[in-house]
Amino acid sequence: MLTEYFLPPKIIMGNHSLDRVGDEARKYGSRVMLVCGQRAMRESGTLQKCQSLLESKDLEVILFDQVKGEPDLDLVREGLTLAREEKVEVVIGLGGGSAIDVAKAVAGLFYLEGEVEEYHDGRKIEGPGIAFMAIPTTAGTGAEVTNNSVLTNQKTSLKQSIRSPLWYARCVIVDPTLTLSIPPAVTAATGADALVQAIEAYSSSRAQPITDALAARAIQLLGANLARVYKNGQNLKARKDMLVGSVLAGMALSNAGLGAIHALAHPIGVQLDLPHGLVCGILLPSVMEHNLECAQEKYAQIAGLLGVDIVGSSPWEAAQLAIQKVKAVLKEVEIPEDFRGFDRRALNYPEIISYALSSNSLKYNPRKMEAEDLKEILDEVM
Ligand SMILES: [Fe+2]
Repeated sequence: MLTEYFLPPKIIMGNHSLDRVGDEARKYGSRVMLVCGQRAMRESGTLQKCQSLLESKDLEVILFDQVKGEPDLDLVREGLTLAREEKVEVVIGLGGGSAIDVAKAVAGLFYLEGEVEEYHDGRKIEGPGIAFMAIPTTAGTGAEVTNNSVLTNQKTSLKQSIRSPLWYARCVIVDPTLTLSIPPAVTAATGADALVQAIEAYSSSRAQPITDALAARAIQLLGANLARVYKNGQNLKARKDMLVGSVLAGMALSNAGLGAIHALAHPIGVQLDLPHGLVCGILLPSVMEHNLECAQEKYAQIAGLLGVDIVGSSPWEAAQLAIQKVKAVLKEVEIPEDFRGFDRRALNYPEIISYALSSNSLKYNPRKMEAEDLKEILDEVM
């Protein structure tokens, strides 16, 4: 069997690497669209800083600061119209996964004919777009190093990806100082997402030695530092390790795929209107328990990667210790054990199960999951 690996061509990593944004963007043109959310980047001063760094290199900045919550197709259409009207040459996503995914889709669809919906429904991406750069400000989705844009069709509530090997960022700027201002709840949810992604990529049926190397280091870094950054957001060393961990997890998942947690998390997140990372964190222990039989070896290794003493334990015992450790980490960052504290009136089991069964992520789950298995997991957490 042949395997292919894709990674973005350039990653600039380190404290204050944001200073390089102007020089990098200039390589692709002089008209830059900066995509970000409505508040956080402005409140932290990151938006103004990024904008002035770009302007100091004589670049024209077109601001699209309309990203709010999880992005939908209307938002991409709006960004695309503005980018085309303004004859933008490079799009930069600055923020969490949502801002980065909107920027990725706007750049990727720039020259393509047809509606955003058609591509969301699976129409092939026929050619390259304009240059796209990504600057993550959370340690979470890894969207900066993946080739997909996760978007919701607001008419059908369907949340899925537009994906293309042509959609990798030309340059990713990974600056840990930008993550210092993330509030604790967002730190916990985004960090839980990264940890889940690392674990799902590591135990995926598509995992390969190269993705294992990336995911294993991600699990070590994320497991050791999640509670640290939650308790002290100003710990720059821990913030850096979390950000590196989330980038590694993104690289791993982009090539190895994910699993049942992500298959379930998308429809649950839409129905209950909860942040993606929080949903992933709540689902993690229960899905690991269901996978245990088929993922024993990998889970035993995960226990070791999470720093659990597994000397003398059988693989089965070590795998169970991994689940205990994951629960302990999630408890430390106050991710709830189930969804019972949230408004669940919009919950629709058949829709969740049918979405999950048809999702790409479920194909790579270490254990083959049927509707019955998914229902059991839902019963445990709902
Ligand atoms: Fe995720």
